Amino acid sequence: MGYISFTKRNNLNWVYELENSQVNDLFTNIYTNYDTYKKIFTVGLSEIWENAVVNEIKSIEGKNILDLGTGTGSISFKIKNRFNKKIYGVDNNLNMLKIAKSRKKDINLVAADAGKLPFRDNFFDAVIISYIFRYYKSEKIRNYLEEISRVMKSGRNLIYLDFMVPNSFILKNIHKFYIKDFFNLIKKISPKKDLNQTLEFLTQDYKNFFQKKDIDELCELINDKDFKKTEYRKLTLQTAFIIKTQKK
Ligand SMILES: C[S@@+](CC[C@H](N)C(=O)[O-])C[C@H]1O[C@@H](n2cnc3c(N)ncnc32)[C@H](O)[C@@H]1O
Repeated sequence: MGYISFTKRNNLNWVYELENSQVNDLFTNIYTNYDTYKKIFTVGLSEIWENAVVNEIKSIEGKNILDLGTGTGSISFKIKNRFNKKIYGVDNNLNMLKIAKSRKKDINLVAADAGKLPFRDNFFDAVIISYIFRYYKSEKIRNYLEEISRVMKSGRNLIYLDFMVPNSFILKNIHKFYIKDFFNLIKKISPKKDLNQTLEFLTQDYKNFFQKKDIDELCELINDKDFKKTEYRKLTLQTAFIIKTQKK
């Protein structure tokens, strides 16, 4: 499915409003098993979605790519395997970066916050972000976008990937059953404390998954001061989406 335009809402109604330290704690609790849990949680679909993001790099000129919130580095490594690019994986969680570092690929891993990126103006040829914005208030996202735009060259793309709740009634219920009810059941019967913590996080997280209207709102928020031509496409039965936008 190709990219489509978003619908203007003029009303940002964000649910998640965590502070940076709370987001950091979330990942500190689950970093050791993050990759395995991500695969189980998405029934392996995260691999397909991440490859869809990596495909976007194909048409990008220039060398310098920023993977912001790189975590354990999965998208950075996929790009490195396919393209001759210089990848900078930035994250503010040292534990997640520790796992990325243990993979020993040629990626520049940098500990920094999205609000203060240690790079010069107009440095990057593309920026990739996955599964982050839903944690933050709209003002914080605006601050991040300003900083991201500062380090990007004009005319270059920012690509954003995240989960979504399918629109159709049947798919929505299957999706809810798997992510919420099924994991709740495992949580009840599992004796493993760290698994329980993660499942608690994931089942709580479900209520903050983007719905169609939230994607419209996020696109509207992005398509403002520094970015234009913002559009999105849905992936795998509307269980994830990619937003693509261009720095003015
Ligand atoms: C859900 S994980 C995604 C990791 C990886 N991109 C992936 O696709 O698996 C979100 C990552 O973003 C990082 N993160 C969240 N807020 C951040 C911020 N303000 N600045 C830098 N990294 C941040 C977290 O530490 C975490 O590693």
